[in-house]
Amino acid sequence: MRSVGVLLLTAFAFACVVNAFGRTPVESYIANRQTSIDSYIANQSPIAKLGLLANIGPDGSKSSGAKAGVVIASPNTVDPNYLYSWIRDASLTFKVIAEKVVSGEDTSLRGKIDQFFESQKRLQQVSNPSGTVSTGGLAEPKFNIDETAFTGSWGRPQRDGPALRATTFILYANWLIANGNITWVTRNLWPVLKLDLDYVQNNWNRSTFDLWEEINSSSFFTTAVQHRALREGATLAQKLGQADVISGYNTQAANLLCFQQTYKNIARGYFTANTGGGRSGIDSNTILTSIHLFDPTAGCDAATFQPCSDVALSNLKVYVDSFRSIYAINNGFAANEAVATGRYPEDPWYLSTFAVAEQLYDALIVWEQQQRINVNATSLTFFRQFIPNLATGSYAASTSTYSTLVTSVKNFADGFILINAKYTPSDGSLAEQYTRANGSPLSARDLTWSYASALTAFAARDGFIPPSWGASGLTVPSSCAANPVPTVSVTFNVQATTVFGENIFLVGSVSELRNWSPDNAIPLSSASYPTWSVTVDLPGSTIVEYKYIRKNGNDVVWASDPNWRWETPASGSATLNDNWR
Ligand SMILES: *[C@@H]1O[C@H](CO)[C@@H](O)[C@H](O)[C@H]1NC(C)=O
Ligand SMILES: *[C@@H]1O[C@H](CO)[C@@H](O)[C@H](O)[C@H]1NC(C)=O
Ligand SMILES: *[C@@H]1O[C@H](CO)[C@@H](O)[C@H](O)[C@H]1NC(C)=O
Ligand SMILES: *[C@@H]1O[C@H](CO)[C@@H](O)[C@H](O)[C@H]1NC(C)=O
Repeated sequence: MRSVGVLLLTAFAFACVVNAFGRTPVESYIANRQTSIDSYIANQSPIAKLGLLANIGPDGSKSSGAKAGVVIASPNTVDPNYLYSWIRDASLTFKVIAEKVVSGEDTSLRGKIDQFFESQKRLQQVSNPSGTVSTGGLAEPKFNIDETAFTGSWGRPQRDGPALRATTFILYANWLIANGNITWVTRNLWPVLKLDLDYVQNNWNRSTFDLWEEINSSSFFTTAVQHRALREGATLAQKLGQADVISGYNTQAANLLCFQQTYKNIARGYFTANTGGGRSGIDSNTILTSIHLFDPTAGCDAATFQPCSDVALSNLKVYVDSFRSIYAINNGFAANEAVATGRYPEDPWYLSTFAVAEQLYDALIVWEQQQRINVNATSLTFFRQFIPNLATGSYAASTSTYSTLVTSVKNFADGFILINAKYTPSDGSLAEQYTRANGSPLSARDLTWSYASALTAFAARDGFIPPSWGASGLTVPSSCAANPVPTVSVTFNVQATTVFGENIFLVGSVSELRNWSPDNAIPLSSASYPTWSVTVDLPGSTIVEYKYIRKNGNDVVWASDPNWRWETPASGSATLNDNWR
């Protein structure tokens, strides 16, 4: 067991009043801990808000050069250079801001949302390495802070971006409508939002880089946030009289909800973060999913992975436990105490640790609403951390079991805040990570998302109830339908003179063009020599790069650089006429 004193000797000023009120040591510890967390939050909350606003152009104090409404990820320019604007980070940051506006906590931030809106509207139209607005460019993960395209190599596309941006705008749109401003929403906001929602509807069933930009497969977070966006998008469309999109959005939302269930690893009690990547799949991706999906009207629904659902609690325990033995700073904690957590077993992140606290606070909000905690086989191991011999059952608020569980979960949640508090420097700045060895800040300084995660965790602790996004009463389809990507029939013609024994082949950047593998290259026909030709079905609205190669026995000669590069149309057929070079 770690000594109680360690936790209290944190960076923030706090006078320890041991036994001043005639308490036992344990009672003092609990009281002191309460004071320390309140004092940390009281200090850190305004710092986090200022830290977040400092990273938004045009006038944020740490974001000079960023256009109006552009969110920089961090002012850090070396090791790593994060002076870019990510669609994901920016959308989640503005979700926090929109929540402050719609809840009435700070309506002075409304002008910033309008600037963010104008900026995103421009960015949607910036053609970039993922494509144009109509050929996949909406899933480009990051841009330069002057709103030009980032053209370096990167893990792209990342298909959570359009969905997260849509959720932020829908939050704002619903508030504007409730305040009598349906005209602006219909005329200005809807056309921008519809581009993102249509993108999600048409492209969710394609592989994506995950939110950590490392793994190209299907990702639980991406699937879940896409589901939410289409679901609430359909409801908004109804309000705005945009009847033509509703059934399409709802159909794909149902397919997404079905697909979301398939990430469940029943045997091991968690949700696998990504279908690819070769790691265990235990990842804060899933914790971030549960807090992003929190809908106070959905109770502890398991299908939508509500924070208090049996599956999300089981998942939380497996995730948190995976960090107990791998960090030096987690040594000596009891098996049911809060510890520092990271994205997956690597260095601890502030935002991951805050997210665990937030999921637990969200759960507490719902138990309080329901005046009841249900414990079933799936969630039993989570709850047994606090009452070792607990039985499954339904515990009403009048029972002592309920009180013990609520108090224990609250303390457990507070523990995660206190861990971050312990490793917050005295000026309150929040970097991206801290070291597993001694907790000193690591990687990018002043990470906007770290500040955002502090604000949302504190708000949840205060009982903040976000608006519903429609998670209540949904039915998971009994079998999961795919959403086939439209294909285009493309004829490749190339003029090439060859010697006897030589043949022309085609390879390119998509699996239909054999992913650049010369061994598997597609042979062309010489029936119309010197025109060599082949017809291939390619995915629609996709950028493809390709090259012709000449093979003669084991000799392979590639056409000279650069690659041919072309965007396929949305549907139909096309012919390309090239000359060997
Ligand atoms: C509606 O909201 C937009 C965005 O904030 C604002 O520009 C416009 O003035 C508002 N219109 C009315 C009538 O309030
Ligand atoms: C597409 O959807 C089907 C049905 O849910 C699923 O099995 C498949 O893994 C999905 N593929 C991607 C890349 O999302
Ligand atoms: C466990 O309880 C939750 C509600 O708290 C319910 O949604 C879920 O289906 C239950 N799971 C099992 C395995 O009984
Ligand atoms: C990502 O995976 C898909 C499916 O395997 C593949 O078609 C695509 O080329 C991959 N993208 C990158 C950039 O590796």
